[in-house]
This record gives sequence, structure tokens and C-alpha cells, in this order.
Amino acid sequence: MPEGGFSPIDARGTPRIDGRAKVTGGARYPSDMPVVNPAWAFLVTSAVSRGRIARMDLSEARAVPGVFGIMTHEDTAGQVADAGFFGGGGYGGTTIRPLEGPEVRHDGEIVAVALADSYETAREAGRRVRVEYEAEEPSSTFGSPGVTEKAAKEHSESHKDPEVGDADGAFAAAPVKVEARYGTPTQHHNAIELFTTTASWADGKLTVHEPSQFVHGLRNGLAKQFGMDPNDVRVVSEYIGGAFGGKGALTHRTALVALAAKRLGRPVKLVPTRDQCFTIGTYRAETRQEVKLAAGRDGKLQAFIHEGWEVTSRADPYKVAGTQTTSKVYACPNVRTKVTLVHADRNTPGFMRSPPEVPYMFGLESAMDELAHALKMDPVELRRVNDTDREPIKGLPYTSRSLMRCYDAAAQAFGWAGRNPEPRSTRRGEWLVGWGCATAIYPTFLGPATARVTLTPQGHARVQTAGHDIGTGLYTVLAIMASERLGLPVEKVAVEMGDTELPPAPVAGGSNNTASLSNAVVQACEQIRARVAEAAARADDGPLKGRDPSSLRFVDGALRAPDGAGEPIDGAMGRAANGAIEAYVEWAPEGTPPGGVRKLHQGMAVLGGGLEGEKSVSAAFGAEFVEVRVHERTREVRVPRIVGAFAAGRVVNPRAARSQLMGGMIWGIGSALHEATEIDERSARYVNDNLAEYLIPVNADIGDVEVIMLPEEGDGSNPLGIKGLGELGNVGTNAAVANAVFHATGVRVRDLPIRLESLL
Ligand code: MOS
Repeated sequence: MPEGGFSPIDARGTPRIDGRAKVTGGARYPSDMPVVNPAWAFLVTSAVSRGRIARMDLSEARAVPGVFGIMTHEDTAGQVADAGFFGGGGYGGTTIRPLEGPEVRHDGEIVAVALADSYETAREAGRRVRVEYEAEEPSSTFGSPGVTEKAAKEHSESHKDPEVGDADGAFAAAPVKVEARYGTPTQHHNAIELFTTTASWADGKLTVHEPSQFVHGLRNGLAKQFGMDPNDVRVVSEYIGGAFGGKGALTHRTALVALAAKRLGRPVKLVPTRDQCFTIGTYRAETRQEVKLAAGRDGKLQAFIHEGWEVTSRADPYKVAGTQTTSKVYACPNVRTKVTLVHADRNTPGFMRSPPEVPYMFGLESAMDELAHALKMDPVELRRVNDTDREPIKGLPYTSRSLMRCYDAAAQAFGWAGRNPEPRSTRRGEWLVGWGCATAIYPTFLGPATARVTLTPQGHARVQTAGHDIGTGLYTVLAIMASERLGLPVEKVAVEMGDTELPPAPVAGGSNNTASLSNAVVQACEQIRARVAEAAARADDGPLKGRDPSSLRFVDGALRAPDGAGEPIDGAMGRAANGAIEAYVEWAPEGTPPGGVRKLHQGMAVLGGGLEGEKSVSAAFGAEFVEVRVHERTREVRVPRIVGAFAAGRVVNPRAARSQLMGGMIWGIGSALHEATEIDERSARYVNDNLAEYLIPVNADIGDVEVIMLPEEGDGSNPLGIKGLGELGNVGTNAAVANAVFHATGVRVRDLPIRLESLL
């Protein structure tokens, strides 16, 4: 064990079983799927953000050779039913339904679909569609005339703003306090794979190839839109080229492509343009926040007040409400929070990696740094005196919590002890050097999950479940799980996912899939083991005769007793079955309401647990330390190094986990310094809707990234003690960078991203 007392997890782990297919082009992404004789769709999207279509002239578009037709609201209204909003028991990421009428609700709403014999022809026709609008003045964002504000709890009875004690009174009375407003920008997922759809019909049945985080949700939503039996809809999404939350809920383009395919009697393919993907899907909405923190001279929090305002569409009450998380991070007797939704003429926002935590933890963790400065206290020590094993709202215990172990491990690796606390105290030539840190937290969500595992006497296994590897390494994780329990090398396990023909799995969101599906797969393996073990123990002529079946395990291709006695897998299996053995399991986490698995079969995302549990709360934690250099004259900000230490229960594949956490921190640096969708406030339109102007870090922007994973055994949130970590890494980074910038320059930037002009 190295000095300082932490022994990190060896990050070597297992290479991805799908890695080779992905880098050799062998992996087929949904738009790669060959279909016979397809037609192509090209979307026409609105040029105004609010108003109505007065007139459409399709004559030029229809005259393009090779055009099959142009779908508009005039021939399409009434043909696609409402799929409902996912937040209200439905399937859609929005209830805004294009082509249902002449109204335009946001910039880039679909107003027509051109269909033709090639992509180029469809695009040419699409560009010749003439639309005349009666435009109205749109409301674009906070402060725009005409926006409507409504408290989150007025939208839904289930929403409760966490609150305890008398926060305002305690704040007024406390000796040390900070109070500040923070802002986070609009962001778009910008997955490299666009929102493609390929739809085909045969014998009244619909097949859709589309990148998705939730094929069963998409299937059931489509069935609802077309009044079909869900069993007559198949959705396939074997590989996904980036999702980040943007491919979780149904978007309306799918139904339009399916409808086009039905009308034309041939498959239809859609590959939208990059700029269209800014408006036909979801995004991370901008937030404004007000944070008040008060403490005694000892640093112990006495009051915490966190209010948030979030932009959403007029139609849908989408919210992230990150106060559900921020109110539970530190011990504090008096907490008040409130979330307000601000409705504007915008497309409906949606999940984007760590949806509540990325914006709201920026507010909390910046304010904690401001408080540490006001107290003249080390920021790490401030977290230590406020560390807690119980969340402060209801007093429920954390299933496990290693926040301070993460701080200590990362601080040591970073060399934090050598920090001069004085802002603007350290320089290297013309560069001001700053060090900052912040907490990362991500709730442990779990959902009912089903899986089928098949073991052959030849020692091959197959795992089937409709979960999704959205780059997280889930294919490999499930192979590891089956390989351990069935005593086979990982290469002997085939994993099939991303198809509604497979047993349903929860949405690949909320970082739940690894935990939820591993539990289901392990239980299926256990059923197979038990069946073989019982037969082997009963067999008079076998080497395991009379053994306690529960003591027998699959090890290295054999069924073995603890003393080493055993029988090769084919022999042992032959005592239980004539061929392969298959087990189908429906797993539900503790506390799942009745009907949870049924809802899963109906394509409903039913995630539970996290920080809103009944008896306990569960989250993964981390601590991130950042060094920035700010050029004294140009104000250019660089991040030469970042160190993060994380604890997330049992880490199944350290290699993939490290890459998730590293990717999260890199995204975090981009989020802190580069990334923002710019909105033209007069027109409520996105301006930089392309990868040239939507800034993300390139390799040259990223210095040393160190990931430390700490073991956290025996977490009780689920039988395997796995916590999700896919969304953990980018949670603390925004604030850690901003805090380091303050330390370097003495300038506190409270609005992201931090740019040259923020530091003038
Ligand atoms: Mo993740 S943003 O919950 O798909």
C-alpha cells in the first residue's frame, strides 16, 4: 500500500469484446443496415421559432427528377397519434408533434419531409420547398419578454423541493456566509452518429433501425403512435455511435420515417444534417442558480439555500432539478431549495450526461470554494468537516460513501499539500498557476431488468438482453459476469443486446445498466448452476455424488466442489439436460413497486433508488483536482493536469471504468472552458449548430489525466454492490476548473464556459 493509505484498483482489466469489430468496421451501426431498395428522406425544418405556416409551395420540389413526394402537415396531420411525454408515463422526449398542423413551436421544427430515390435528390427537393411563415416574436431564454415561469412542484405532484429546518433564519444568524448567482449554458450532445432512422414494413409489421438507448421504449412508443400491437414493431440498435442521453426518449422523426415507408411501400432511410440534430432532438438547457451557504467559524454548514431556474419548451415541463442531489451532499441542519421552470419558444430539453449534477453541482461546489475562501479554510478540510454518512433531509443512511477517501487519494496524487492558499500567489513565467478541487457525485439508479443466459455442453455461453452499450463497455461487462459465474473464458461468452427481440432491459440512462443487468445475468447464471449442481449431486455414478449442491461452482470448464473434486462441464450438464440449458430471469431491485417488470415490458423506464430511496440513499462519489494556467496578458486558460479519485462500489471492468471516468473529466474540461450552444435571443435560434463552431476540446487542450479508482466493497444498494459510474466523471470538473481559475487569478467566474472575456 503506498504512503497515505490508499490502494487503487489495478486499471488493466479486460479489453472490450466489441473493440475489434468497432475499429475494423465490422460493427454495424443502425444507418449501416442494408435494406432492399430504400428511398431517402430529407427533413425541412422551420426558419422561424414561433408562428404558423401560412403557405407552402411544393411545385419546385416536386419537379425535381427522382422525387416521390413531400410530406407536410396538409397530408400528414392526424396520422401519428401522441406517444405522450416520458415524464408523464409516455414515451416521447417531447409532446410537440410536427406535421400535425401549421403551428411552429420552435426553431428547426420539422415542417416537411422530402422523399426521393437518393439522398442527394431528397436534399435537393427539400431545399426547394418554399414555406411562407406568419412569424411571431419568440421568447428565447431567461429574461426574454414573454417567457412564463412556473415552480417545478406546480407541474407535478411527485416533485418535492428538498427542505429541512429553517434555512433562511439560520442563514441570517450565521457568522460566515456566501451568496452568489451562477449560470450554466445550453449544450448539445453532438454524438458523432446523427439521429438516423431506417424504417421498413413487411406483412403489416414495422422494423426500425435507429440508434437508441432504449429499444423497448421506442418500440412501445411507435406502437402507440400507430395504434399497433407492440409485438408487431421491432427496433434494432446493436451499436450506438454516441448517445449521452440524447437517444433515450422517442423523437418524432421516427414515426414520420415509418409513415413515409408505409406510404411508399419501400424502406426509407433518414440521415439528418448536423444542424437539424440541434433541434429535432433534445439538449441540456441553460440554468440560472442562486446559492447561499452559511457556516460557523469551524466550517460546519448551518444553512444551505439553492434555487434553480431551468429553461424548457412551452409544451413540456422537462426538468433536471439538481437540488435533489445538491441538498444531500453535505451535512447541514437547515436546507431550502426550489426549482422553477422557465417556458420559452424552444424545443424540449432532455437528459444529457449527468443531467442534474453537471449544472447544479457547479453551483454548489463553486459556492463551497467561495465559503472555504471566506473561512480561510482549506477546501478539502471544508468538505471533511461537512462529510456525513446520512443525507440531511430525511436522515437516511448512504449505502456506502467514500467521499473523503477520494479527496485524500486525489489530493495526495495531485500534491495538494504544497498549495499556497493565496489567490494569484503562484506563477510560472507569464502564466498564473491555480489549483482547485470539487466533489463529484452520481446517484446509483437501478431498474427492473430481464436477461436470458444459455450455456452449451461445449462450454459456450450466450447472454441476451435488450440493454445498450452506448460506449460504456456493457458488452464486455456482461461477458465478464457470465464468464465468472459459468467458469468460462470471456471469449467463450457471446453477448447480444440492443434488439426488441431480446428480453427487455431498462433505458441505458442514469448509469444504471451495468448494475441492473449484471444482477439479472448473474441470477440467470445461478439458475443454470443450481440446476446442473443438483443433478450432479444426485447422480450415483458421478464424481460429485452426495455433495451439497450449493457448494458446487463452475470453474475452468468444470463443475467443482471446494476440495477440487469435479466433473467437466459437458458431463455435468448431461446429467441435467439433453443439450443447452437456458435461464430467463426477471430481476427487480429491492423496493421496486409492484408491476415494475410489467412496465419494463411495456417500454416504461422505471428507475429507482439513487438519492430518493425509502430506507437508504446510494451514490458514487469522487474528488477532482485541477491545475490551470492562465496567461497573464491573453487570459488564455489551459489545464495541464487533472486528477480524479472515484469510488463506485464494485468496479466490474476497471479498464472500461477508467476510460469512462477519464472521458467524463475530459468532457468536464470542455464543459468548463469551451462548450456552449449560442442562442440568438431575437430569433430564438441556435447559432453555432455545427462542429466547427460548437467548441469542444481537442487533444492539444488536454494535458495529463489521472484516474484513481478506489475499492468500495459490500455496498448494499444491490446484491452485487455495483454503482453506476458512466456519468460520474464529468460532475465535479466544471467547479474544479472554476475554483482553480479563481486560485490562479483571484477572479471568480460564475457563468460557464470560462472564456478569455470572463477574465478581463
Ligand atoms: Mo444518461 S444523460 O442518464 O443517458
